[in-house]
Order: sequence, then C-alpha cells, then structure tokens
Amino acid sequence: GKSGYDHYMLKEINEQPHALRECLRGRPRELEGSIEIDELEGLERPAHVHFVACGTSYHAALYGARLFREQGIRTNTFLASEYDVDSIPVDETTLVVGVTQSGETADTLRALRAANRIGAETLSVTNVVGCSAARETDYVMYIRAGPEIGVAATKTFASQQVALAMLSRALTGASSSGFIEALRALPDQVQSILDTSHAAAVADEYVDADAYFFIGRGYNAPVALEGALKMKEITYKHAEGFPAGELKHGPLALVTDRTPVFAMLPGDSTAEKMLGNVREVESRGAPIVAVTDVPAQLGSHADHVLEIPDTHELFAPILSNIQLQLVSYWVANRLERSIDKPRNLAKSVTVE
Ligand code: F6R
Repeated sequence: GKSGYDHYMLKEINEQPHALRECLRGRPRELEGSIEIDELEGLERPAHVHFVACGTSYHAALYGARLFREQGIRTNTFLASEYDVDSIPVDETTLVVGVTQSGETADTLRALRAANRIGAETLSVTNVVGCSAARETDYVMYIRAGPEIGVAATKTFASQQVALAMLSRALTGASSSGFIEALRALPDQVQSILDTSHAAAVADEYVDADAYFFIGRGYNAPVALEGALKMKEITYKHAEGFPAGELKHGPLALVTDRTPVFAMLPGDSTAEKMLGNVREVESRGAPIVAVTDVPAQLGSHADHVLEIPDTHELFAPILSNIQLQLVSYWVANRLERSIDKPRNLAKSVTVE
C-alpha cells in the first residue's frame, strides 16, 4: 500500500534514503578505499563505453557518462531509440551499458541485442532481478531501489545516479576517500532535504505559471533535463530543461515573468557562469528559484531558495534532484492530476 501517503510517487520520493542505503550496501570498502561491485567480477576497465537508455534513465546515463569521462574513459550516450549500430562505430572493445529501471524497455533491449550481435561487451544497470535486460547482457548491476509503482521514476533515478557513480570508480580503481565519504553521507543528506524542503511553498507560488524552465551546467545539466521531464509528465504543463549555456541560443525567447526558472546553483566551478545565465533570465522578469548548497552566497540572486546540504561537487545533482521531484509533485498535487498514473504514459514501454 501507500503507507499513509496520498500517492506512490510521494511514498517513493520519501523512500530514497533507504533506497540509496541499499544501493550502497557493501560496495564502498572503507578499509581498501575502493568500490567493489560483486556481480561485476571479471569486468575490466573498458576502452570505450556507450550508454543506451530512454527517458529518465537517459538522464541518469548522461550524468554517469560524465563521471566515466572524468576517469579518462571515452563515452558516448545515446537515446536507445537512436542507437543504430550500422552508423555508430562499435566493436568488441566497446562496453555497451543499458540503463533501464524496468529492464523491459523495448528500445533499450533492441539496442543491447544489436550490441551483442556486433560482439561488444554488454552490461545492464537495472532494478528488476531477472528482467529481460539482465538475462540478455554479459553483466548486470542491480541498483536495489525496491519496487517502484508510480509511473514517474523517482527513487530509481537517484539509485541509478549513485550506482553509475560507483560503477565509474569500480571499473577504474580510483576512488578518493573524499568520494567514498561523500557517497556514504548521501542517504542522510537526502533525508534532511525531505525533512526541511520548502518545495510545496514554491509549488504553491508558481502553480499557475505558463511554463517552467530548468537550467544547470556540467554535472548539473542532466538534472535540469530530468526536472523538466518530471514536471511535464505529471503536471501536463510545459516545461523545458537546458544546459544553461544554450539559453541564449534560442530558448530565451520564451522566458517571461510567467515562466519561473529553476537554476542549479551549487557553489562549484559552474557558479560564476550560472550566475551570468541567471541574470539573462532575470532581466526578462523571470522568477528565479535557486537550488543551492551555498544559500548565503548565491541565494540573494534568487526569489526562492531550495537548499541542499554541502556535498562533493560530483553529487550535488543527486541532492538537487530531490528538491525538483518535490516541486513537480506539489504542482501536480495542487492541479489534482492523476499523479501515479499520468495520462498517455506506461510504467514500462514495451513497443519501439
Ligand atoms: C519518466 C519515466 C520514463 C522512463 C523510461 C525508461 O519518469 O518513467 O521516462 O524512465 O521509459 O524506462 P526504463 O528505465 O524502465 O528503461
């Protein structure tokens, strides 16, 4: 059941501390200072990784791919429906990673099967034990989020992000102690966001907006896309997410005083350029909601602040996304949408 929550989505958002503890269980090894994923024994550092995924899982893959590149591994990330092995160089030296919560998404399965035929090594990162993706790939890593009933992917996205972060280090043998420590702090930090978030008040203020924009840079660009996807799928309102630098290449034309902009503003190397982008939208009158771990520093540039705890630069997107999930949930709730079963969507999409 829904354990007293009005919707599975809210229940699953609140299950994230537990889901992340499960995802982490036994994998970071303090003593050795390494990350071990037992089910991947024998899988070695790949020369080249292709990620294939759809929807929310694609956003997790975009985030994960960046963590691999940071370790010097060449990556490409594909929407699974666009993965055409006849026109994309892929061979036995490529590890093709299917990121799929359900393990049953037709586009992703097709891409993985094509990779198998070429002779590439294949790995699925999935939530469902014994799913089709797990059966059809050489390796499988489980994200251990527990069953997700709500159509909108929430806890599985957080668990995918954490799983891919661990995978990037497990395959390269390079995890600093700061990385492991910060990983292990995430469940409690997610809990503190759930306990203190003002997302419902922000949702109330902007429930009548014409559209919602989400911007972020670098590691935070994928959660801008995810924030927008979640918003449109459960509220049925127009929402768009961009890597912030793209705004001035067209989308700024849509920004008005009726389009709140959610800006991922962690106090990291992206902050200065992000503030430049915030000024661009502010001068069009757009209300700004800053998602930040340094509210004292950056909060004054915004109309509202959604605070996240201080974390390793690489993990801010995992925490920021929790706030975005809550905003979407509360906007949809105020609009009395069918949150757990939004129109025109299925939990797993088994047609190409
Ligand atoms: C969004 C959502 C979809 C799925 C997509 C892939 O909330 O649920 O975008 O993420 O259909 O599904 P999986 O991960 O099962 O392959």
